[in-house]
Amino acid sequence: MIIAIDGPAGAGKSTVAKKVAEKLDFLYIDTGAMYRAVTWLVLTNKLSLKDSIDWHQLIAEHPIELRPDVDGYRVFVGNQDVTEDIRTPEVTSLVPQIAGIPEVRRELVQLQRRMAEHHDVVMDGRDIGTHVFPQAELKIFLTASIEERARRRYHDLLEKGYHPQIDELRDEIALRDKQDQERDIAPLKKDDQAELIDTTGLSIQEVVDRIISIFRKKVRTS
Ligand code: DC
Repeated sequence: MIIAIDGPAGAGKSTVAKKVAEKLDFLYIDTGAMYRAVTWLVLTNKLSLKDSIDWHQLIAEHPIELRPDVDGYRVFVGNQDVTEDIRTPEVTSLVPQIAGIPEVRRELVQLQRRMAEHHDVVMDGRDIGTHVFPQAELKIFLTASIEERARRRYHDLLEKGYHPQIDELRDEIALRDKQDQERDIAPLKKDDQAELIDTTGLSIQEVVDRIISIFRKKVRTS
């Protein structure tokens, strides 16, 4: 069974998806972390996007893995734990460009489909309901106002020891929305069958409860 949760940056997808997966005992797969892991590889190996890169080989030689652990999951590239390293501002600013490269998307989508072969999964991203699993049993599209998303990002970064400017965060999020929505392949867009949930002003638990209740209703009536 597949629950696809898509939506823009900062809508609360990963926190919510992780909790929904826990509650239903499904595997949680954060596809944004996979695009971030490839971006980390590019930065760490000082690869230039102007050169031709064999993405298939790069990803085959540095396998990306999401390993479940007590707090959710850890992200590995080969044997290296990059869970924290993929959240730096450097990775965050380059990742939309990497996620716009067709060969990178092809490799990661293949991997995502393989990861769901033997598990029930909650997968979050931008193109899960529209492209990766158009046949998903449940599709959710999470949004929130840009001010709310900037506020959430601000508090996340403060906790991590950064001192961000909220106006800059708002501009960055607006730019990321534009890049995600306007790219040629698998752009961010709500699937017609997806349930829209605006999380502005809702607590995490309220969003989780709403998704579980939609899921149970769907399963009961299918
Ligand atoms: O959700 P996030 O911020 O960790 O995602 C990182 C980037 O990856 C973001 O620019 C959108 C992109 N992404 C994507 O293009 N497709 C996905 N399925 C998941 C993320």
